[in-house]
Amino acid sequence: MKGLLSAADLNAHEIESILDVAEEMHTIQQRPVKKLPALRGRTIVNLFFEDSTRTRTSFEIAGKWLSADTINVSAKGSSVSKGESMRDTMMTLDSMGVDAFVIRHSSSGAVAQAASWVKAQCINAGDGQHEHPTQALLDAFAMRQHFRTLGEGGSFAGKRIAIVGDLLHSRVVRSNVLLQRTLGGKVTLVAPPTLLPMGVDTWGCEVSSDFDAVLDEADIVMMLRVQRERMSGGFFPTAREYAASYGLTEERFARLSPTVGICHPGPMNRGVEISSAAADAINSLVLDQVSAGVAVRMSVLYHLLGGADEEGQL
Ligand code: CP
Repeated sequence: MKGLLSAADLNAHEIESILDVAEEMHTIQQRPVKKLPALRGRTIVNLFFEDSTRTRTSFEIAGKWLSADTINVSAKGSSVSKGESMRDTMMTLDSMGVDAFVIRHSSSGAVAQAASWVKAQCINAGDGQHEHPTQALLDAFAMRQHFRTLGEGGSFAGKRIAIVGDLLHSRVVRSNVLLQRTLGGKVTLVAPPTLLPMGVDTWGCEVSSDFDAVLDEADIVMMLRVQRERMSGGFFPTAREYAASYGLTEERFARLSPTVGICHPGPMNRGVEISSAAADAINSLVLDQVSAGVAVRMSVLYHLLGGADEEGQL
């Protein structure tokens, strides 16, 4: 693998290898001493031009547990705040001998652009409304664990995954659709017409505005955050009306079978797209997703920098 910009960069074999190695990393995560020497001497810069809790922290932990030197750079506190361009910042850091950049940016396509300026490998940690490939990988990891817990094996073939909410502004949905296209999951997208991305009919998924009808058929329900910070206009009348039609309310949650896994990439707007009853339920995978984030990012870093062979052996 050379960098990771899009979920579409990965074939089925590569996805399986990342998820399988992540399982080994996940067992290490449960140990009292979590260090592995795999990336000793490697340097990873987490370069975040946009806020993050889960992604930045889990990449930092992942790098540290693999014994890499990890450095966090955010726009605030760097020379970007003095007007330095992203290109100059990237090329400056690259000249220091960095092995990999983990980059988040508010503009779609910014990470691919950055990758063209540097020798180091680049991992897309979320670019605007475009993609968030490691989120889709950790979602797949948590879902696969859930299916196995139910005794259904680890295959996604034919599994019905409903992704619900603010699809227009979501990079998570794009990466999940691309990853599930490769894995064989059957994705149905649910949103009000105002929050459907242009061209969604070409994504190869079913699209619905009737959450209740989709809910009864789903194996996984993934709720997406209403991204108010990216909204300039009135995409729906009020948060209360949005929740009534598209939220996983207490009433909808009560209808769900406990075998249905509930996902949310976070951060959550409780009471808008998801009720606390659903977020904190026994079949909620929200914290499993967070935990998977460290293991999957360890696996991605290991595949990119650690000399994993064809089968991803440690
Ligand atoms: N899911 C996710 O990307 O969360 P953060 O914005 O906290 O990284």
